[in-house]
Amino acid sequence: MKNANETKFVAAIDTSTDMLACTVARIDGADGSIDVLASGDHLCRRHANVELIDTLDAMLARAGVAREQLDAYVVGRGPGSFTGVRIGISTAKGLAYGANAPLYGTSTLDASAWTAWLAGVRGLLGVAADAMRGEVYPALYRLDDAGVCRLFDRERVVKAAVAVEEWAGRADAAELQLTGDGLVRYGDRFEEAGLTSCIDRSLWWPSGEGLLRAWRVGAENADDVAGYGDPALVLPIYTRLSDAEENERKRLGLAQSEQSQTTGVADELAGRHLQFRPMGPADAEAAADLERSCFADAAHAPWSAAQFLEELSPSAAVPRSWWVAHDDGELVGYAGGMVVEHEVEILDVAVVSERRREGIARKLLAHVSYDAQMLGCTTASLEVEAGNSPAIALYEALGFARVGVRPGYYGHGVDAAIMKAELPLVLPVDAASPEPTAAVVRAWPLAEPERTDEETAELARRRLVLAIESSCDETAAAIIDVEGNMLANQVSTQIDFHARFGGVVPEIASRKHVEAIVGVIDAALEEAGHALGLSGGTVAPAELAAIGVTQGPGLVGALVVGVAFAKGMAYAANVPLIAVNHLEGHLFANLLAQPDLKPPFIFTLVSGGHTMLVHVRDWGDYRVLGETLDDAVGEAFDKVAKALGLGYPGGPIISRLAETGDPKAIEFPRALNRKGDYRFSLSGLKTAVVNYIEQETAAGRTIHVPDLAASFEAAVFDVQYKKAWAALRETGAREYCIGGGVAANPHLRKMMMKKLGRQGVRVTLPPQGACTDNAAMIAEVARRKFERGEFSPLNIDADPNMTL
Ligand code: KG4
Ligand code: ZN
Repeated sequence: MKNANETKFVAAIDTSTDMLACTVARIDGADGSIDVLASGDHLCRRHANVELIDTLDAMLARAGVAREQLDAYVVGRGPGSFTGVRIGISTAKGLAYGANAPLYGTSTLDASAWTAWLAGVRGLLGVAADAMRGEVYPALYRLDDAGVCRLFDRERVVKAAVAVEEWAGRADAAELQLTGDGLVRYGDRFEEAGLTSCIDRSLWWPSGEGLLRAWRVGAENADDVAGYGDPALVLPIYTRLSDAEENERKRLGLAQSEQSQTTGVADELAGRHLQFRPMGPADAEAAADLERSCFADAAHAPWSAAQFLEELSPSAAVPRSWWVAHDDGELVGYAGGMVVEHEVEILDVAVVSERRREGIARKLLAHVSYDAQMLGCTTASLEVEAGNSPAIALYEALGFARVGVRPGYYGHGVDAAIMKAELPLVLPVDAASPEPTAAVVRAWPLAEPERTDEETAELARRRLVLAIESSCDETAAAIIDVEGNMLANQVSTQIDFHARFGGVVPEIASRKHVEAIVGVIDAALEEAGHALGLSGGTVAPAELAAIGVTQGPGLVGALVVGVAFAKGMAYAANVPLIAVNHLEGHLFANLLAQPDLKPPFIFTLVSGGHTMLVHVRDWGDYRVLGETLDDAVGEAFDKVAKALGLGYPGGPIISRLAETGDPKAIEFPRALNRKGDYRFSLSGLKTAVVNYIEQETAAGRTIHVPDLAASFEAAVFDVQYKKAWAALRETGAREYCIGGGVAANPHLRKMMMKKLGRQGVRVTLPPQGACTDNAAMIAEVARRKFERGEFSPLNIDADPNMTL
């Protein structure tokens, strides 16, 4: 913190439980005492995103503190309800980012313990916080007059019955007093086991003041930790992997061959490009081969296949994480580590020699350390031969520092260097790369930019609108000026994290948004600073004129991250908020290519979630002529690709394959082909394709995948063309445009251009890069709403079911 002796104003928030905790306090500069000025803690089930900013605003008013006066924010990092934790953290990140103030995270369980302490509770305290699905987060504390002392190492999740048994079996069980919102559901079970002493029910949830206390205790040791206070680095406390990841671990542990997941046709195509996935037993032989070739000259013995298998065994004593990189079905690298307390010990990293310059090791380590973080690790360590300078250089670049040597560890005269790093590892913020990104450690708050008078005037004249998009698996930010000049356009895709599951996993998507959002916005503000030639560099949040954000439709857990962040940022930077409909974004992407596009016209929306034919009578006046009755077009591409074992997302892979295929080779059905029917149905086509694959495979025939891809595309696009043309004729519109991820498909683009062009219709296509999800299209919508003064209140929530 800037000046330790200054009195500071701090706001603390936590929405990890049903309690919306929100407290504004003054921290005395001399003795660090906490003086609560206003507290709006209240139970607010599932409404945190609606009420949080308004509550904070009311508390600041009651405290007589202006938002600009806040010196810092404190947020509860859970563990708790996944969505709840994310709302609190995302809002807090936005607030701190918008205010250029530090953000400090603290454990919600610690806050609960301090809440009890503040009420006078002393002695042995058990916090049983509700983790849903029959589980609790159990946490034991010793409370005395001096304060609260943790009796556990890291947060964890267990079945309620396990917590009951553990605590009832303690020698000091009679002393134990209980608290935590888990008692609402499981209080009876604790009672039946003889644990009858509960503190007053009104104290079962964390309070804002409890958060502040918990933070102050941690802060004494953390003040000089690098990056402390940077909102980019504050992440939820997770105690388990997502369900999808957990299931995958189990599945891999069953020694099932990786090959069996893909159909026989996939061989030539499986993993056409570099992919990452967790190591499975089927990889053990290849890993041992690679290990032998990599460490041929090393002083230590290479790992054997049996050793790899042992690592992967589900009965391993401590959690492990092993990842492989593969390309064209061949193993090109792997890395693994084991979790010991708060630390992941990196056990092995290897990459084939021909591919050492592609950052593969870095990505592998990123995956392993990410898993480790999810399993509660805060640091990573490894040992490396002291003479292996290329490896040491790589590790140093990732943030590892030498902390010691083990003389002769790798044999006579060959020392091991012991290296350690804080998690997350230092990875370059590369918005275009699908690897996990973590902000480089930097001083926070940022220095205020220095501006010349002309620059200040120019910024004011331009009126910059920042747009944020987080509806699915891309975290994106763009900055546009009021005249429509796109000054920044950043997208961070998570595809790599979802590809191994054959589709987007919602829980992983929202985790990734929380991790990526600050870095992506940083990059956008910096890009805009460059575009404007600002001598003082990056644009500051307060220099924006408005903030737009995708409100829906999309995955609710993903949307809330963007919406909560945008609201927090808009509030702290004191600029208006603009809610944007994602579907309207896909439509407005056309304006990026053709600014004079004017209604009336016909618009086809084909994305991963939507298939619609729309008569745009005016901007904002949309008549949906027809929608899909089942799968969306993009979804059908993804499902067909999955059936062929081609990976995710299917659209780009299938369109690449279709290039060399014959669209007339296989006759697939065209659904709802009746005149005047604008509805779509794709599940029949998908089934026909899957049946075809099964039939041919069973008959022992080789499938010509390019022909299949081209014929599938033809069936889809044929229907799209016919219905679009019918709608144009019926409405008399002379203009046509298209949007959504599938609009990136070159065959669809070419076909519409040619066939509708021939009919005298002007066809507009969005820029290829603006078809799949991006924030530039959101910015275009936001800019126009900005001009009309269409702002949103700060109590809006994400709306996953929004329509056009
Ligand atoms: O608009 P989008 O990025 O996300 C949603 O809002 O749903 O669309 C993603 C969808 C995916 O299903 C993907 O397979 C599809 O767009 N897609 C394509 C192509 N590129 C992406 N489909 C066909 N051909 C492509 N080249
Ligand atoms: Zn989309």
